[in-house]
Amino acid sequence: MEFKSKIKTIEWVDTYSKMVDQSVVPYEYKFVNITGGQEMFDAIRNMIVRGAPAIGIAGAHGVILYAQEGRDKPLSEFIPWLLDKAEYMKTSRPTAVNLMWAVDKQIDIIKNSKSDVKGIIEELKQNAIKLENEDIEINKKIGDYGAEVVPKGAAILTHCNAGALATVGYGTALGVVRSAYAKDNTIRVFADETRPRQQGARITTFELAMDGIPVTLITDGMCSYFMKKGMIDMVVVGADRIAANGDTANKIGTYTVAIAAKYHNIPFYIAAPLSTIDISIKSGDEIPIEERSHEEVTHINGKRICAEGINIINPGFDVTPNELITGIITEKGILRPDYNKSIADAFNKDSI
Ligand code: MRU
Repeated sequence: MEFKSKIKTIEWVDTYSKMVDQSVVPYEYKFVNITGGQEMFDAIRNMIVRGAPAIGIAGAHGVILYAQEGRDKPLSEFIPWLLDKAEYMKTSRPTAVNLMWAVDKQIDIIKNSKSDVKGIIEELKQNAIKLENEDIEINKKIGDYGAEVVPKGAAILTHCNAGALATVGYGTALGVVRSAYAKDNTIRVFADETRPRQQGARITTFELAMDGIPVTLITDGMCSYFMKKGMIDMVVVGADRIAANGDTANKIGTYTVAIAAKYHNIPFYIAAPLSTIDISIKSGDEIPIEERSHEEVTHINGKRICAEGINIINPGFDVTPNELITGIITEKGILRPDYNKSIADAFNKDSI
């Protein structure tokens, strides 16, 4: 089945990175071209591009942009300078490990290439294009594995946006929705609004509506109400970083959904590529949680919605403990508890 949303969210074009400007969706659906290294750092930090796999690709593109800026340096200067810039690119956002993963793939090339400056730049471009293509293939595999556990006519709740717009294309959690819908067009989606930045309302409903997949928008606090009424059959969300024991960081509010799902005996799945799993950390306690601008909470559409002089805390992500997760849907199949074992097995099958 062909979906209208099949355009690439982010792609390398000749000498620049072309991406959907997600900060203005759904008011506008436009592309921006990012042409410099610092410009890419800012695009990631300010969420022109967002979603773990998409910012991974953006980071890989950022390294190429810096490499192009340094092209006149002698090789002996170029390599340490570019390695520095690549490390800097990794600091643009802290939680989604796909960013570090993809930039590290570029770092491997910089460190191991036998080419001159021009050759290294070309290798970095080819690698980024390979990562882009792999992302879509991986998401389709995730989608197809996930579709196997979607009951006929299911209502699937999702939180935030783990869709085509959070990846190069097709999506992870929404990849599961797309693959399930291709087999059974009676399934439907409940999308949490996802305060404070409303990725569920702004982006998930936008891309599902574009593909004609039925979607009902609810506010974050409503999920347990609909679960109790028997109106939600399963939950599928994406992930920004998964620890070796399966603890999963995703958009703030995901943990609340997982607790409500457990209470109501509703399966709760994570859909994510293996590149989102950080086997270097034992548990979710070690996942760095981004603290975002207070204005995201105090203001809506530029207008203050609360009293002056109050305290604000705005963590961008929370960690869902592994015991609340029914399965982690990856490109190598669905990982089940005990996650320490199933994750280690998935990594040992072959290298990624
Ligand atoms: O702050 P964002 O919008 O980048 O957060 C995105 C999420 O939390 C997504 O659910 C996650 O990155 C998975 S994307 C396939």
